[in-house]
Amino acid sequence: MNLPAISVRNLVKRFGETTVLEGIDLDIPEGKVSCLIGPSGSGKSTLLRCIAFLEEASEGMITVNGEALGFYETPKGERERLPAAQIRGVRSQIGMVFQQFNLWPHMTALGNVSEALKTVHRVPRREAEERAMAQLRKVGLGHRAGHYPAQLSGGQQQRVAIARALALQPKIMLFDEPTSALDPELTGEVLNVMRDLAAEGMTMVVVSHEIGFAATVGQQISFLDHGKLLFTGAPAEVFAKPRHPRLEQFLDTYLDRGASMLVA
Ligand SMILES: Nc1ncnc2c1ncn2[C@@H]1O[C@H](COP(=O)(O)OP(=O)(O)OP(=O)(O)O)[C@@H](O)[C@H]1O
Ligand SMILES: [Mg+2]
Repeated sequence: MNLPAISVRNLVKRFGETTVLEGIDLDIPEGKVSCLIGPSGSGKSTLLRCIAFLEEASEGMITVNGEALGFYETPKGERERLPAAQIRGVRSQIGMVFQQFNLWPHMTALGNVSEALKTVHRVPRREAEERAMAQLRKVGLGHRAGHYPAQLSGGQQQRVAIARALALQPKIMLFDEPTSALDPELTGEVLNVMRDLAAEGMTMVVVSHEIGFAATVGQQISFLDHGKLLFTGAPAEVFAKPRHPRLEQFLDTYLDRGASMLVA
């Protein structure tokens, strides 16, 4: 058994009095596409943000390729925070793409993709721009490098955001509803880029309501409901014969939207 790329153990997340994630245990296999599905408000984004360390879990442990992220357990079983430099090192293995692309409006596509390389990673300008160009070409936007976000379609902007994350050479990519803000005709181009990435063996965690994508590209599907992980399994187990009543109810809602043929 390979070490999981990400391992989540007994993760709890509270916002004030509200418990949003309750005792999540999840292994993300290396080199595969894992999908998180579940109703609105079930905690999908919060779980992804905890894995990216954009939120700090209230309890529990996360490891990334065997290294503790954020907190570790002392020999006495106490939970201690790791030094900031160590947290940065583990976090740098993870790239994230959001529903809202969050590009800098005053920078070109090339600027957006090369900025962190130059300013955070101190890569010399020319090399940073070469690496950024290579990523833009990879997402099919080599010819749009000089365009500003406002001059790009939503699908193109999201592909720039993917290129920006990839330029930092993450080992794991997290996607939080990357196509939800897009018109249906632009969704396909983003999903195709994600499919290519999956085919290259990138470890991916994808939150998506694109049940068709989850069913055809996903290799592990986890279903979250009210902050609890109710089920993790292979796509066939989840979609073809859902056993859990809440999952069945959820799929009824989404499969009604015409995706049923994709998983039949
Ligand atoms: N910063 C916050 N402060 C307080 N409550 C929050 C915060 N972020 C999220 N929540 C709450 O946590 C719960 C889970 O939210 P989350 O955004 O993770 O759900 P989700 O599954 O991603 O939903 P959606 O499908 O609508 O994106 C919700 O009840 C939400 O209101
Ligand atoms: Mg969300």
